[in-house]
Formats: sequence, structure tokens, C-alpha cells
Amino acid sequence: MNVGLKTQFLPAGASAVAAAARCLAGGGLVAFPTETVYGLGADATNPAAVARIYQAKDRPSFNPLIAHVGDIGAARQIARFEATAMALAEAFWPGPLTLVLPKTSDCTVADLATAGLDTIAIRLPAHPLARQILRAFGGPVVAPSANLSGHVSPTTAEHVQSDLAGRIDLIVDGGAVEVGVESTIVGCFDEPMLLRPGGLPRGEIERVLGRPLAQPKQDPDHGSGQPLAPGMLASHYAPRTRVRLDAAEIEAGEALLAFGSDAVPGVDAAAAVMNLSAQSDLNEAAANLFGYLRALDVCGARAIAVMPVPRHGLGEAINDRLRRAAVGRE
Ligand code: TXA
Ligand code: MG
Repeated sequence: MNVGLKTQFLPAGASAVAAAARCLAGGGLVAFPTETVYGLGADATNPAAVARIYQAKDRPSFNPLIAHVGDIGAARQIARFEATAMALAEAFWPGPLTLVLPKTSDCTVADLATAGLDTIAIRLPAHPLARQILRAFGGPVVAPSANLSGHVSPTTAEHVQSDLAGRIDLIVDGGAVEVGVESTIVGCFDEPMLLRPGGLPRGEIERVLGRPLAQPKQDPDHGSGQPLAPGMLASHYAPRTRVRLDAAEIEAGEALLAFGSDAVPGVDAAAAVMNLSAQSDLNEAAANLFGYLRALDVCGARAIAVMPVPRHGLGEAINDRLRRAAVGRE
């Protein structure tokens, strides 16, 4: 369903920041870059604006959203920070870390944004444009990734445009993002728990905690009952083309998503070849991941064959997204 809006597209700059803040204050939807992926923002305290996010994304259910704030003071108005949460916020904010915390009793964020939970996910992004918009607006902004539900997350303003033009009010173009995978989500429960691997590697968090992060008892994707990160649907990051993981050779009609050397058997007959990082650099691979999946999705290949990617550092988040991209399509 096209909502039939005229979507404004503005280059980064002072007038775009002012327009974004005005739009948010009027209950509008604004896509803007964060260092991880582009977000689709709405005034977190305005239930009608929050509802429009679900409509614009065609999101089938009211999964809870991340509230983005401009500083720690704003975060403390909506969530309670125990010592561990404070230590993580001080070490990694602004940056690609989302904390799930108990809501304060006077939390102003709309219940629809937290899906009725008594916890709230909060993030203080590092991208200068995101920070300027948050500062100019002056309140919490909920922002899921700015893509249609089930699509690959957007890492450029053009990705946002191709998914959401006609459905949202404004796209602020800040160029390609730096990190390329969504934030790492840590639940600050009795034991700090890794709810989603992401742009901040697990090892850095564990170094600050001085101990390993707990794992959810059930995979948030497949568990029954109330999942811990209910938005993490199995096929959340999927291109339409089938994705084949851990490929050691290319079969006829397949495209290759390589990592390191792409000299694998069958590569000469591949429908297309893109290399996440010829130098085997995981940061570069994360930044390229979603854009390359989008590009290979429209190259007419029978399937996207993906070479193995190491699991350390950002590799944990890359493998997580690749596994989700492959689910249900093998
Ligand atoms: O990098 C990011 O985090 C991007 C940028 C735009 O900030 N945002 C993003 O949002 O990835 P989204 O909506 O695609 O993912 C939010 C995740 C979902 O898996 C959701 O279930 C989880 O956060 N979440 C939100 N509130 C939660 C809560 N109270 N408890 C557990 N999980 C929660
Ligand atoms: Mg998303």
C-alpha cells in the first residue's frame, strides 16, 4: 500500500536538520542516517506518529522500537540506569550500542513504541547528523531501520528512497553509513545479556563488564512465548533471491558474495561477483554487506552464494544477518 505522500529528499545541512526537527514535531516521519544504518524516525511520545511508522514499513506486528536520544540526561528521563548500564553507556555512547532497561515511572514514550513492555530499548547514536536532528528536536525519537518490513536494512539514502518513497515525509541524505549493520542490543537484566549481535563487537562489551555476556535461553527468533527481542524475526534481513551460505564453489546461474580471495571453483561462470572485502577486513565487510545483498538481489541470479566469513569481531553480526537472509529460502 502506498500512502501517497510526497516525500521530500534533502541533502545534509542546517536547513535539513531544521526541516527534520519541524517534521518530527508535527508528527511526521523522517529518515536519517545513523552510523549503523538509516533509521525511520518519529516523535516517541506521539502515539499517532509511532503508529505511522508501522504503517509506512508494512510492519505486521507492533514490535518494540528503539528510542534514540541526544545525551545521557535524556536517556535517564525515560529509563533507569543501574551501575552496569551506566558503565556501558559511559564506555560506548555515543555509538552502536542499544541498552534495554527498565522504564522510569514517568517515561513519556508511547506504549505502542515499547509494545506494552516495562522495559525500553535506548540508543545514543554517534552520527553527527543524527545527533544534530535529535538536539534540534529536543525529545526521544523512535527509529527502526528505514526499510520495508522484511527487507534488507538501508545503508544509503537511495536505499531508503527505493523502499519508502511515497510513504514517509522526509529523507535526509548523509551519504553511506560507516558501520553497516544495526546496533548491538544488550539487555541490562540481572545478568547483562546479548539480545542482538551488531556494530559493537561482543568482546569490547565483555572487556568493560569483566565477564562474558549471557545468551538468551531461547533464540529470540524461534522461541515460543514472549521472546526477549521480539522484533528479531528469522527472515528479517532477507533479499528475495535465495541465499546459500558457506559456499566453496559457484553453481551455474549463481551470484557470488565473496570474502577475501574470490578465486573459488566456478567463479568465471558466476552471474555476478561482489567482494565484501578483498583484504578480509570485517569492518569493510560489514559496511558493504546490506548494499551488496541489495545489488545482487536484482542481478537476475538464481541464488546468492556466500563465502564463509570469520565469526570474530563484527563477524558475529555479519554471520547473524547472513543466517537470517538465508532462512526460509533454502
Ligand atoms: O542500529 C540500529 O539499532 C538501528 C538504527 C536505526 O538505530 N535501529 C534498528 O531498529 O535496528 P529495529 O527496530 O530494526 O530493531 C529494534 C530491535 C528489535 O529486534 C526489537 O525487538 C528490539 O530492538 N527491542 C526493542 N525494544 C525492546 C525491548 N524493550 N526489549 C527487547 N528487545 C527490544
Ligand atoms: Mg530493522
